[in-house]
Amino acid sequence: MPRVFFEGLERCLEVEPGTTLLEAAERAGVALHPDCRFGWCGSDPLILVEGEEHVSPKEEDEAENIAFNHFPESVRMACVTKVYGDVRVRLFNL
Ligand code: FES
Repeated sequence: MPRVFFEGLERCLEVEPGTTLLEAAERAGVALHPDCRFGWCGSDPLILVEGEEHVSPKEEDEAENIAFNHFPESVRMACVTKVYGDVRVRLFNL
């Protein structure tokens, strides 16, 4: 089972493949304050520190949102990023 490690909070949990980072955060008690849950609004950014090859690729809406908000390339919207292997993430302070 894939593991999601929340760097800085020292929380880690195992998830089913295909679980979103937002679902993992909610189960781990990590508050992200999501709004749309479709990758459009930019309210749940996470920095993907390790494991880029273990998550779903950016869809067009997410990529446009990241560019519009001038987020770094390492940022993913937690609500639409699905996990298929071990990843390490960190909160992005808005
Ligand atoms: S909740 Fe809106 S981008 Fe994730």
